[in-house]
Amino acid sequence: ATGADDAIAAFGRGQPILIHDAADREGEVDLVYPAGAVTPDAVARLRNDAGGLVCVALSDSVAHSFDLPFMQESLDHPSAADHELGYDERSSFSLTVNHRDTHTGITDEDRSLTITELAGAASEPDGTTFAEQFRSPGHVTLLRGAPGLLSDRLGHTELGLAVAAAADQPPAVVVCEMLDDETGGALTPAAARAYAEREGLAYVEGSALVERLM
Ligand code: 5RP
Ligand code: CA
Ligand code: ZN
Repeated sequence: ATGADDAIAAFGRGQPILIHDAADREGEVDLVYPAGAVTPDAVARLRNDAGGLVCVALSDSVAHSFDLPFMQESLDHPSAADHELGYDERSSFSLTVNHRDTHTGITDEDRSLTITELAGAASEPDGTTFAEQFRSPGHVTLLRGAPGLLSDRLGHTELGLAVAAAADQPPAVVVCEMLDDETGGALTPAAARAYAEREGLAYVEGSALVERLM
């Protein structure tokens, strides 16, 4: 089995995996969970071990059903007029949300509830009135996947959603950047591999996923 097959199989079992996009893109490793498998302990791991922004990527078709825009297009402010990213054409940021049954939205319990309810909504978009269940702004950042996934964009958003599709998981995927507590920068791929080994998790290169899934 390749790194890609191991990662897809682990994800299908509800386990988190580590995905490095590419050295010539962000050059970041994200800790990635099937949204339906997230628990309060998983949120604690995301903020303590990963440390980046906890996001939920939804497929283009689910985001379309819920009328979730790209943030850049819904902001009427000059700061959103030009996105100017150094590593891609555009970001995948959509709205930020909390489930309506949360209190502040930020606690491990609250974020876990928002994330698992997003997974439920994404697996049954027709049975979901999004605004009845979620309020915006909130403490979980939604990302909208590109329509053609890996043929359109090679972000963690699309890499994570492509793994979910291959693993028969709903199109709702948590991604969070692994940051280095010593330097404050992105955790290097070598250090992320070492973390994966210590924790018994699968680590996979974006290029291996592209080769396996495209
Ligand atoms: C949100 C981000 C992360 O990089 C995340 O991995 C999603 O973005 P992308 O699809 O561009 O990799 O910016 O915290
Ligand atoms: Ca940390
Ligand atoms: Zn990323």
